[in-house]
Amino acid sequence: NEIYLNGLGGVTPALPMTYAELEAKAQGALPPSVLSYVAGGAGDEFTQRANVRAFERWGLYPRMMVGAARRDMTVDLFGHTLPSPLFMAPVGVIGLCAQDGHGDLATARAAARTGVPMVASTLTVDPLEQVAAAYGDTPGFFQLYTPTDRDLAASLVHRAETAGFKGIVVTLDTWVTGWRPRDLAAGNFPQLRGHCLANYFTDPVFRARLATSPEEDPGAAVLEWVGIFGNPLTWDDLPWLRSLTDLPIILKGLCHPEDVRRARDGGIDGIYCSNHGGRQANGGLPALDALPAVVEAADGLPVLFDSGVRSGADVIKALALGATAVGVGRPYAYGLALGGTDGVVHVLRSLLAEADLIMAVDGYPALSDLTPEALVRL
Ligand code: FNR
Repeated sequence: NEIYLNGLGGVTPALPMTYAELEAKAQGALPPSVLSYVAGGAGDEFTQRANVRAFERWGLYPRMMVGAARRDMTVDLFGHTLPSPLFMAPVGVIGLCAQDGHGDLATARAAARTGVPMVASTLTVDPLEQVAAAYGDTPGFFQLYTPTDRDLAASLVHRAETAGFKGIVVTLDTWVTGWRPRDLAAGNFPQLRGHCLANYFTDPVFRARLATSPEEDPGAAVLEWVGIFGNPLTWDDLPWLRSLTDLPIILKGLCHPEDVRRARDGGIDGIYCSNHGGRQANGGLPALDALPAVVEAADGLPVLFDSGVRSGADVIKALALGATAVGVGRPYAYGLALGGTDGVVHVLRSLLAEADLIMAVDGYPALSDLTPEALVRL
């Protein structure tokens, strides 16, 4: 409301009002190495573009005279009532997108201000305990890159639980980094890696595994980290994962219905349909096209979705295709780059304001009104 009324009242917003302008402006603000990391994807970025274009192949029917003067966007997720179905996807090393280098904390403060949950990456610049403390009353989730060392994995999950995170998002599609030409050309990885190890460096199990403390020999610690990052989980590991915590466990990166059924049968609490924003494997199908079959196979389990969401209209379409909650990655990273906490808040509020107005104008006052029947394939 505030953004909209300001606009009507002639107040020029501090930050761009469209994603295209936001992205373009952030390109000027971010250091080149960080920009290539954030903006880039796998291969020639076909899948990354396809994620965005997939939304253009759906149109929403307008419905009239249904009394949409009041809308309700609240959603229940793992026992928490959220003001909206929007969330911030885990973005590792996002700390570097903020001018002071502490972007995880700035993003967490935006979560506190908006009630939009953030999923904190394993690769935060500041330790997860500090990130969790900045969430205020907004529930936060911890994303796990599962280390090969099981004690270390258990330690990270235990710390997340103690810090007050409300669920563990286990990312399955990144046990090895994809073919990312922009990062390879920029020689980015060693530099980025040096900035995202706080959760390891502060971990008692990690420290115990090292011959010298990370402060004395960060290079050795980084090499150690490369090893612990590369754990390709199998379905046989599900009982072990499940045994780590009573918190809800959500598997991220599921796009095939058979995988969803296996996750559900293995006692997983939530499905996260995503292709990592096209960053991991090129040539894949847009995540949105995978969503309907994922929802069907999830059979009532909550389905989180991300990859290619750029507008409030996109949020609405993903909800209509069955997502319980919809995530954004790059959009809030660009907001952070341009305006810190205020920038993230601006991006989130703009997405929500547009989504809310679509529900109003097109006559879908409740999220339960948004069903596949509301959409036409274009
Ligand atoms: C990511 N993503 C990601 N996912 C994850 O599980 N752990 C991580 O640490 C990261 N890191 C990361 C860094 C950057 C710079 C980006 C852009 C993305 C993937 C992220 O959670 C999400 O799946 C995508 O960003 C969604 O696509 P869009 O919204 O960026 O198109």
